[in-house]
Amino acid sequence: MSNTIIVGAQWGDEGKGKVVDFLTSSADVVVRAQGGNNAGHTVICEGKKYILHLLPSGILWPGKTCVIGNGVALDPIGLVTEIETLERQGIAVRPEQLLISDRAHLTLPYHREIDGLREQSRGDQKIGTTRRGIGPTYADKANRTGFRMADTLDTERFLLALRERIAESNDLLTAAGMVPVDPGIVESVLAALARLRPHITNTMAFLHGAITEGRTLLFEGAQGTFLDIDHGTYPFVTSSNTTAGGACTGSGVPPNRIDRVIAVAKAYTTRVGTGPFPTENQDLGDHFHAMGREFGATTGRERRCGWLDLVLLRHAVMINGVDSLAVTNLDGLDQIDPIRICTHYELDGQRLELPPSTIAELERAVPVYETLPAWNTDISACRSWEDLPEAARRYIHRIESLLRVPVGLVSVGPDRNQTLLRDPRWTGLENPSIRVRPEELPAIA
Ligand code: IMP
Repeated sequence: MSNTIIVGAQWGDEGKGKVVDFLTSSADVVVRAQGGNNAGHTVICEGKKYILHLLPSGILWPGKTCVIGNGVALDPIGLVTEIETLERQGIAVRPEQLLISDRAHLTLPYHREIDGLREQSRGDQKIGTTRRGIGPTYADKANRTGFRMADTLDTERFLLALRERIAESNDLLTAAGMVPVDPGIVESVLAALARLRPHITNTMAFLHGAITEGRTLLFEGAQGTFLDIDHGTYPFVTSSNTTAGGACTGSGVPPNRIDRVIAVAKAYTTRVGTGPFPTENQDLGDHFHAMGREFGATTGRERRCGWLDLVLLRHAVMINGVDSLAVTNLDGLDQIDPIRICTHYELDGQRLELPPSTIAELERAVPVYETLPAWNTDISACRSWEDLPEAARRYIHRIESLLRVPVGLVSVGPDRNQTLLRDPRWTGLENPSIRVRPEELPAIA
């Protein structure tokens, strides 16, 4: 058994859903521990496309248990819509397949409206949130005014409190000239909660039982390292801990039960929403958008695009304790010539290997690039590491050598079979006691 955390190494949208889906074959339980339906994980399986927001990707595999942990911001109406969409696609979601923590906080209709209100009041300092109510849900949690799933089990009491909160929120919204929430929405909330009720349980106890039985856990991170409320580009972040530690607090599984952390990084960098992005490059963005790539799975927004940034990745490797990287979208660089990677920044005459702490400094930091040979070949049909052109392999080697972390998995397209596993040891799923040391990395050409 081996318990693995998967995190995003950049600003989200790294292709974690696909990597989790791929690794799920070796796992028994797949856990979401933070974030809410701001996440959008696209999984393509046998030509069928599934977009998941709150459901762990393991739901697409028969026989796996999926857990929505205590750290998740759970929008009941959104989750039921997602379940119904999957059911229409032929995937049943039964109580034994999906366990929802009784401690997970609820995202309710007024949270969405308040998210919109806060964004509006920020003017040109907008975060560019997904407007799914995530910030206000976690704010209520921190203010100790939130509702948890267990609170909804006493319907009468919950209904009274919910009506009160809707009235309070409506005062706020009306005063700001916004449309208030229709009080009749409580019926939809209650209907959604009734659908979810058979799934609500003490997931922490379940996970500890699963560990005792020697079952394999996979933690599916949402968003990415630089959207972490503590370690990201604050305030242009989401409201949860998207880094490896968040998997523990958001599930109740302690750090000493975790065997391995895998970070997922795109072969370049993207970001949605506002905030600094040192390696942003308009030409790259135009290239990807013209190909129909790099549009957000949740909001459909164009993602901002740029070169691979190793300053960010170095930081991500440190704070997540990354054992191994999965590099996705390598095929996105097929027609890019030459290819550049940012090795460090320069700021006020100083060389920076790690990102500075303030937004103002990050905005002023000048990325320094290294140019690497292009491959100018379609690699989407490659099915093994050896199939990749030499320049593509050198690109991966260069990342490994600069970060001193092995790349265990490379993805060359959205389908499950477009996933090249370099060495099963590197995913850690087969034998967690094996760790690849930097000196074991393949020699750099
Ligand atoms: P929020 O999480 O909706 O509050 O949005 C805060 C920031 O995180 C915004 O820049 C969003 O675009 C970004 N964000 C939230 N979820 C995701 C995601 O799943 N992928 C990429 N960016 C995200």
